[in-house]
Amino acid sequence: MRPRTLALTLALLGAGLAAAGAAQEPPPNVKRIAEGRKLFIESGCHGCHTVGAMGTPIGPDLAHLGGKYPPDYLRRWLRDPAEQRPRAHMPKLELSEDQVQSLGAYLSSLR
Ligand code: HEC
Repeated sequence: MRPRTLALTLALLGAGLAAAGAAQEPPPNVKRIAEGRKLFIESGCHGCHTVGAMGTPIGPDLAHLGGKYPPDYLRRWLRDPAEQRPRAHMPKLELSEDQVQSLGAYLSSLR
């Protein structure tokens, strides 16, 4: 191996290790999404919705929701469905702002 190639290889290796180190601490959004997925079960969303194979198909399937609506719309929907769509059948759920943020992040991640 020529010295220049060796230096380049070592530099790439270093970058790879740095990336691996960063992956150990999940970025805030990853935690939000995990929290939202948990809330989706705990808040009873899966009692009316499916996400792929999980849940009950009373309301629409939410599997590709993140590609359908911007995150901001989803958060507004969670705060009060009827305000977004006056004839909505989905009940307004008692969600804290923190829960809205987590559920919004989770729903946005569904592509
Ligand atoms: C009692 C049944 C019920 C529960 C519980 C429920 N939903 Fe819904 N949801 C619906 C129905 C029905 C719709 C279809 C729109 C409408 O008519 O309200 C809907 C629509 C939606 C939509 C819009 C989908 C679209 O494509 O426009 C989102 C997002 C959503 N629900 C998320 C949730 C989340 C997250 C929860 C839990 C916090 C939840 N829902 C709990 C019945 C429910």
